[in-house]
Amino acid sequence: MKMSRTQLYRTLDQADVGEWEALKVLADQSPWRQTFHIQPEAGLLNDPNGFCFFNGEYHLFYQWFPLGTQHGIKYWYHTSSTDLVHWRNQGIGIAPDTIYDSHGAYSGSAIEKDNLLYLMYTGNTRNKDWKRYPFQCIAVMNTQGHISKLPPVIEHVPDGYSDHFRDPKVWQDGEYYYCVIGAQRINHTGCAVMYRSPDLQTWTFQGELQTFLPSFGYMWECPDYFELNQQGILLFSPQGIEPFADSFQNIYQSGYMIGTPLDLNTCEFDHGDFCELDHGFDFYAPQTTLAPDGRRLLVGWLGMPEIDYPTDHQGWAHCLTLPRELTIEQGELRQRPVQELTQLRGQRYHVNHTVDNQHHLLSSMQGVQYEMLVQISDIQATRIGIELRVGNNEKTVLYYQPELEKLTLDRSLSGQPLALEYGTTRSCSLSLDEGTVTLHLFVDTSSIEIFANDGRKVLTARIFPQPDSTGISLFAEDGSACFDVTQWDLL
Ligand code: FRU
Repeated sequence: MKMSRTQLYRTLDQADVGEWEALKVLADQSPWRQTFHIQPEAGLLNDPNGFCFFNGEYHLFYQWFPLGTQHGIKYWYHTSSTDLVHWRNQGIGIAPDTIYDSHGAYSGSAIEKDNLLYLMYTGNTRNKDWKRYPFQCIAVMNTQGHISKLPPVIEHVPDGYSDHFRDPKVWQDGEYYYCVIGAQRINHTGCAVMYRSPDLQTWTFQGELQTFLPSFGYMWECPDYFELNQQGILLFSPQGIEPFADSFQNIYQSGYMIGTPLDLNTCEFDHGDFCELDHGFDFYAPQTTLAPDGRRLLVGWLGMPEIDYPTDHQGWAHCLTLPRELTIEQGELRQRPVQELTQLRGQRYHVNHTVDNQHHLLSSMQGVQYEMLVQISDIQATRIGIELRVGNNEKTVLYYQPELEKLTLDRSLSGQPLALEYGTTRSCSLSLDEGTVTLHLFVDTSSIEIFANDGRKVLTARIFPQPDSTGISLFAEDGSACFDVTQWDLL
């Protein structure tokens, strides 16, 4: 049942006695609870926020509507971890409890200064006619984890932009702090703008990022800018891009452009094409941070806006992706699961099998939550692949067509259907790597993350199979291929 606007904009303080607890009881009974992904105890999760390393720990907040599974009033929920693998729930980080964030503490980022963590976020407000007024706000967390709010730091949208003005991502360069903010021009095209500050409190408008995309969708959400290998990378999530061949198939997109470092004075950014970060069904609004050892890490929302999900009736919705490490190699962005995830590895299984024009159900491997490395070589077939979560009339299929150099994820038979109007397959180009295809998979109760050919392509999706759909099958059509498969139970 859809909630009314009044119900959606109630804070936890305004909930009925036991209301959230009842939602949690419902969520606890859901057959699709994840086991190694960050997920809300109850309610709806969306964007990752404030991802950082501070005071000896990683902190990762997320957008959270506690009282239902639709997008209502948003909080920042706080989690922390020493190893990027085991996350502790820390409770509410930022509540929408001032006049500057009365209709939601929207997305933002974190940066350390003077042993304090500054959380910069968008305070979403609405007047009685439901007109939106965004404020860019700051909250400060001390080393005890106590968070307090400062007055808003950007109170007005600059001329030329609409009230869709949000999601500050802050970084430091030399003596200044900078932030990029997602914006919409008054002609209804999306862009990102930049501000500069000497102290995180006084911000000056530097201008709009000068890209080669004057008309690319109607809004850019969650921009992020960083440098890697002496190159500048702008990430953002544009809305309003039309599908094209195998690209841009989801309701909204999320991608990056690589270029020469952004000119922090003129805002000029000389960049290449916009590329999707993830070629799966469910990935949006990612955010990066710098690890203390210099790695650039990324986490995304493993979900999409405006799509109904099968857990919506089960008291909870969505989770975050596993953390990925980003690198640029031979000019190409690579994304690999962070190496810390190997800590989860339990019992290991291995098979090496030549499959010749058949489907071969593995007798020694099955599962619901696992990591798997599949190396396919000696490929003499027109289509090769692997079927996961196989059960009665159910399977999630990942296949490669060598002649087309194309990798496809097919969730048409994955279980409970979703987002059917956006199709049931996702494909991307993938060149053979010295004649082989390598698939590194992380399968949780209701998701799959696929890293292909050592992080060259990634496909992420929610799937909603029956609990007893646990089979794993290899196949080769019109010829043969050699499969080397290693599977780890996850602890
Ligand atoms: C992206 C987004 C952001 C906004 C937040 C609200 O999913 O729409 O632009 O800050 O979600 O929850």
